Amino acid sequence: MSGRLERRVALVTGGGSGIGAATCRALAKEGAMVAVTDLSPEAALSVADAIQAAGGQAKAFTHDVTSPEDWERVVGEVDAAFGRLDILVNNAGMTTVGNELMSHSLENWRRTLAVNLDGVFYGHRYAGPLILKGGRGGSVINISSIMGKIATPGAAAYCASKGAVLMLTKAAALEWAPLGIRVNSVHPGYVETPLVHNILREVEDGNAVRETLVQQHALGRLAEPAEIANAIVFLASDESSFMTGSEMVVDGGYTAR
Ligand SMILES: NC(=O)c1ccc[n+]([C@@H]2O[C@H](COP(=O)([O-])OP(=O)(O)OC[C@H]3O[C@@H](n4cnc5c(N)ncnc54)[C@H](O)[C@@H]3O)[C@@H](O)[C@H]2O)c1
Repeated sequence: MSGRLERRVALVTGGGSGIGAATCRALAKEGAMVAVTDLSPEAALSVADAIQAAGGQAKAFTHDVTSPEDWERVVGEVDAAFGRLDILVNNAGMTTVGNELMSHSLENWRRTLAVNLDGVFYGHRYAGPLILKGGRGGSVINISSIMGKIATPGAAAYCASKGAVLMLTKAAALEWAPLGIRVNSVHPGYVETPLVHNILREVEDGNAVRETLVQQHALGRLAEPAEIANAIVFLASDESSFMTGSEMVVDGGYTAR
């Protein structure tokens, strides 16, 4: 395969499903060697196997982004397997619905912040040195959400975590610009992934909720995971060489109102 990311090595967290899986496939299609990491070893392996079957280069890693020990181990294994790291996509994330503040489960609050925010911080903390060691700069893409820019009731933990990712991105962008490492955030609208499908199954009257969501996107539909992956590939590539600290909104017009 040849493309915009020849000879680059990418690590994608939560690469076993949804946006992460589409991103792994899109990066590999552009010639990158992809470390597909996920909490689920089976999911990571199935994405890596499919990439290899299509002629791309990928390797699966079992990885809980909330664990600093896992980050240390996985970054070491990526170094051993590929010898460098150029692209880091902090994608792993979770959400739950119906968490009103006055009765919010503390466990749910802590878990959401641990996965969606601590996991992204650890990515910078542990994978940053390997990117730096490569000596060619790099690109970090943090997957936030439209909910990192506008809020929705019942999702305070998710909104807080995604808003924090936006500012973590800007702080990292300023700190790492002198190192040649760009850091940007991506803010998808609603995407056809298991994360959204599970929520629609959980809520009362999921079909009506889906219809409301569709109406809230000016383009009149939810996104396909590949449409978010395309934006991520752009930020990973040299085509976005003057972008750092940016908030790339990919939301079908959701926040344009
Ligand atoms: N789907 C959407 O509508 C949407 C919109 C905006 C932002 N996002 C964000 O995009 C990212 C990906 O979402 P998705 O919709 O593809 O979700 P998904 O549920 O389809 O996939 C998430 C993946 O992350 C993995 N994961 C969960 N916890 C993990 C952990 N602790 N360590 C490592 N991996 C873990 C899961 O195993 C899964 O493979 C998330 O950060 C999400 O918040 C999604």
